[in-house]
Amino acid sequence: IFSAVPLAPRDPILGLTEAFNADPNPAKVNLGVGVYQDATGKLPLLECVRLAEQRLAENPKPRGYLPIDGLPGYVAAVRELVFGADSPVLRRTITVQALGGTGALKIGADFLRRTAPEATVLISNPSWENHEALFTRAGFSVGTYRYYDEQAKGVDFDGMIADLAAAPAGTVVVLHACCHNPTGYDLTADQWATVLDTVRAGGLVPFLDMAYQGFSESLEADGAVVRQFAESGIAMLVATSFSKSLSLYGERIGALSLVCADADEAARVLSQDKIVVRTNYSNPPTHGAQLATTVLTDPELRALWVDELGGMRDRIKAMRHRLVAGLEAAGITDMGFIATQVGMFSYSGLTKDQMVALREQHGVYGTDKGRICVAALNDNNVDYVCRAIAAVRGA
Ligand code: LMR
Repeated sequence: IFSAVPLAPRDPILGLTEAFNADPNPAKVNLGVGVYQDATGKLPLLECVRLAEQRLAENPKPRGYLPIDGLPGYVAAVRELVFGADSPVLRRTITVQALGGTGALKIGADFLRRTAPEATVLISNPSWENHEALFTRAGFSVGTYRYYDEQAKGVDFDGMIADLAAAPAGTVVVLHACCHNPTGYDLTADQWATVLDTVRAGGLVPFLDMAYQGFSESLEADGAVVRQFAESGIAMLVATSFSKSLSLYGERIGALSLVCADADEAARVLSQDKIVVRTNYSNPPTHGAQLATTVLTDPELRALWVDELGGMRDRIKAMRHRLVAGLEAAGITDMGFIATQVGMFSYSGLTKDQMVALREQHGVYGTDKGRICVAALNDNNVDYVCRAIAAVRGA
């Protein structure tokens, strides 16, 4: 049965980590995957998480099955974070614990595929590489809407709106709520208002991916777009992740929320989402949900989290400026746009050949599309990276 199975290519992002781990180059730098590292190049264990873990360990509990839709306290805390504690949409919104942001997208994709089998999916051009793969595997035909303007180094907003306006009613539109991955270019508040009008007028189904809440401006400001969409009265989905914001990558802790027309519709939608979960992995794991709930609901830990998240955000911003300065020192003067991008990534404009040369000749890993993770730079590796970029650009 397996004899004709072809060898699949490596994952375009996580496959880079596999290649990085196998690389003997002592100077190697992994700017591939979107993982925040601290100023010393280490993956942080946030203090708020360490304290939450300590509290949980002091009061150990047996590990029964969680409900199919997740730890009730977690689900409630996520809903309040995403929509606001006194949001009018909460009574018609359901939230399901998910295996990270990717798991949330997949529950949503499987649910939509059964609910609206004729629908197609539009993702931004470019988008996180797994968007296309995930929605395609769920059975959708996946197209793109214009997003990145290479010449202008920013968003092709007119192109985006024209493509969304031309999409048939019922089309699922995947939108990056903040910190667009991979480009690092977000829409302004006015542009978001136009997108919302276009989506509503065209009867499109927005699926907001919010993997980086807190990495652009703040939890509150970065969540504003989701709240506007939710309160506009249209049906929508939102995938939330705590991988980055709580540095809980390996716990696979995220959530899918669906804003429905009314409470009755929400109950029916929840019943279907529970079938998606049950037939995939039955019910979710406990630990990450307990950690996140403890941090989100304890005022002291939550304040500490907000502070630590701000520290990560500020360090990434500082590294953007440091990268631009280092590139200038290395003779590259046309990459100042890196300082205007937001989130973990920079779309560097480097070609595939240059990215391959960066990897093979210098041990600097970024995606073939030219995305580099600024959140993995620090004072010890940034100049090496700048010299490597200058070398592959022939500067
Ligand atoms: C990324 O884009 O690097 C992250 O979202 C990690 C992943 O799962 O791809």
